[in-house]
Amino acid sequence: MVRKYSFGNPFPTDAVIKHYPAEQDSLPYFAIKEGSLYYPLPADVPVYGLGEQVRGINKRGWSYTSNCSDDPHHLETTHSLYGAHNFLLVGGSSPFGIFIDYPGQLTFDIGYTQKDLLIITPENWDLDLYVIEEEDGLLTSIVHTFRQMIGRSYIPPKWAFGYGQSRWGYKTEEDIREVAAKYKEADMPLDAIYLDIDYMEQYEDFTVSEEKFPDLPRLAADMKKQGIHLVPIIDAGVKIKEGYSVYEEGLEKGYFCKEEDGTPFVGAVWPGRAHFPDMLNPDARRWFGMKYKVLLDMGIDGFWNDMNEPAIFYSEKRLNQVFDEVAALKGQNLDMEKNDHFLSLVNTLANNPEDYRSFYHEPGNGLPKIRHDKVHNLYGYNMTRAAGEAFEELEPDKRILMFSRSSYIGMHRYGGIWQGDNLSWWSHLLMNVKMMPSLSMCGFLYTGADLGGFGADTTEDLLLRWLEFGIFTPLMRNHSALGTREQEAYRFSNKAALRNIIRLRYCLLPYLYSEYMKAALNDTMLFAPLAFGYPSDPHASQVEDQLLLGESLMLAPVYQPNTTGRYVYLPEEMLLVTTSGPEDLRFEKMTAGHHYVPAAEHELIFFVRKGHLLPLAEAAENVENVDASVLKAIAYTGTDTNAVCSYTLYDDDGYGKDYNDPSHLSVIHIEADGTVSCEGSEERTITPCFICS
Ligand code: NOJ
Repeated sequence: MVRKYSFGNPFPTDAVIKHYPAEQDSLPYFAIKEGSLYYPLPADVPVYGLGEQVRGINKRGWSYTSNCSDDPHHLETTHSLYGAHNFLLVGGSSPFGIFIDYPGQLTFDIGYTQKDLLIITPENWDLDLYVIEEEDGLLTSIVHTFRQMIGRSYIPPKWAFGYGQSRWGYKTEEDIREVAAKYKEADMPLDAIYLDIDYMEQYEDFTVSEEKFPDLPRLAADMKKQGIHLVPIIDAGVKIKEGYSVYEEGLEKGYFCKEEDGTPFVGAVWPGRAHFPDMLNPDARRWFGMKYKVLLDMGIDGFWNDMNEPAIFYSEKRLNQVFDEVAALKGQNLDMEKNDHFLSLVNTLANNPEDYRSFYHEPGNGLPKIRHDKVHNLYGYNMTRAAGEAFEELEPDKRILMFSRSSYIGMHRYGGIWQGDNLSWWSHLLMNVKMMPSLSMCGFLYTGADLGGFGADTTEDLLLRWLEFGIFTPLMRNHSALGTREQEAYRFSNKAALRNIIRLRYCLLPYLYSEYMKAALNDTMLFAPLAFGYPSDPHASQVEDQLLLGESLMLAPVYQPNTTGRYVYLPEEMLLVTTSGPEDLRFEKMTAGHHYVPAAEHELIFFVRKGHLLPLAEAAENVENVDASVLKAIAYTGTDTNAVCSYTLYDDDGYGKDYNDPSHLSVIHIEADGTVSCEGSEERTITPCFICS
């Protein structure tokens, strides 16, 4: 059951696609006092949600702010990352969900100020609030209802489930060809190479540098012959430069965000001075979205949208003020206060809240112009929506890969997200693990972190362990920052280990794709905390470093250096699979409880749940070549010798949009005695490679 409460004059975010009449009676659970919502938190009640945020799966114990931020410091004490996902799920014996549809700054103090209080504070009270309860009292049911409210998650093309290589630093066509050649030479599968900002002409969106990439269509075609897709980046800011058509058109049509006096706002990003398209204005949005065509026409079929919080390195106005203030300090004795002030002058230039208060959007549809800070969290969402809506028009029958850095709930219908500028830190591998289920709750299914870490220098063991987790995340991309150690998998000494782990991704593909599609089409979670699958197990809610993935798997990634195994909690008996690659699958039946499970650096461990089945394909050099008609299957029937494991496999051509065609479904049954049967219109050969009863 969903109940909606409206306060003030909410800005239409289009996050919720269903219509709910606003309730007139008072809000349940919460007391409203002095501009905040208060809910007393019983001691042992976990609180889930918030999507892309720091800290645990259980969000208790910190204060989180929804304020899309270009902040590469993903620390325990960080309050905001790139997304604003205002959905919370309060557990306990009668759980409920709450979604606050509010595009301004919003703070969730979850037992930070006072351990037993949840305090939610919006900057102002123009918002819609939804309370979700389900009779069965299941967390998964509440998430399901919420996901139905916000609409179907984005579905990428199947190739986007392959392994991708990226680096901010590939500067020329030769660099790209070299990456492809080196992967081939190392016999490592690869489906995508990402183009970062250097492919553009002077960081101008929708241009290609003639000098560095003289023939992008030919490069894209050559890569496609090798099964590799090129995925260019698009930035939010449009360079101010006479003669640059995107700038000139945007200016002429009045499509850039404006200051109060109507002059276009100037902020700097990679190209220096830039204007920001008014993504909230439907005409400007369509205009910007249609610009992707220039690259689609060159044979590109995937994009990543960046710097769309929007990131602003400095505004023209503040920069001038800072220069004046610094000049005034020249020759003075800089005591502590003055020195602090001096340092802060430059340090607070980027992403300054004052700048976000100095420009406006014209949302059209009879709505008055609105100051950016009041709708700040919608910018990246609407940039991605611009692209998504244009793709529907330009390529109605084809899926285009799209993921964004900044997001708000609602954007999950148009694209995925990557988890931004993490570091090559072991703790960021664990953060990646913990974020996955929170993002699933909020509808962001196509997601993953920069594997190996973006900033700082990676190490071989970290990359390997991260890939051992990354092979399970829908977006599986190795990406790193300019100036850091090069971290393409072929650069490290234990190539065999890296190759084998990457190849495993392709064996898992039929399962991963099938689970993804079912989660998207049925509004269910792809990754879930253990507590969601084992609600009556009191230990399950304590586990923060294991996840359920789809219906059959429990993951227990190794995220510590210099370890040859880890402790794992099993809520029930399960089948342990230990593997160093497609040719090496070892099985062990494990009882419920705590275990120490060995996993050498080159070994991956995961678990098949009782009564479930995992289909596996042969390894392949890219997604296109994965053959889902010839599968092996691991089935764990449990102790009951009459038990049957059944699995509904979803598969399609990976490009089209006829998702609900019944021919995409096959049902595989494996009995404890090894009898296999498969229902469905597709021919499949299924060989049990392990049945455990
Ligand atoms: C910031 C993005 O988060 C990162 O992934 C990218 O490499 C840089 N911008 C440069 O485009």
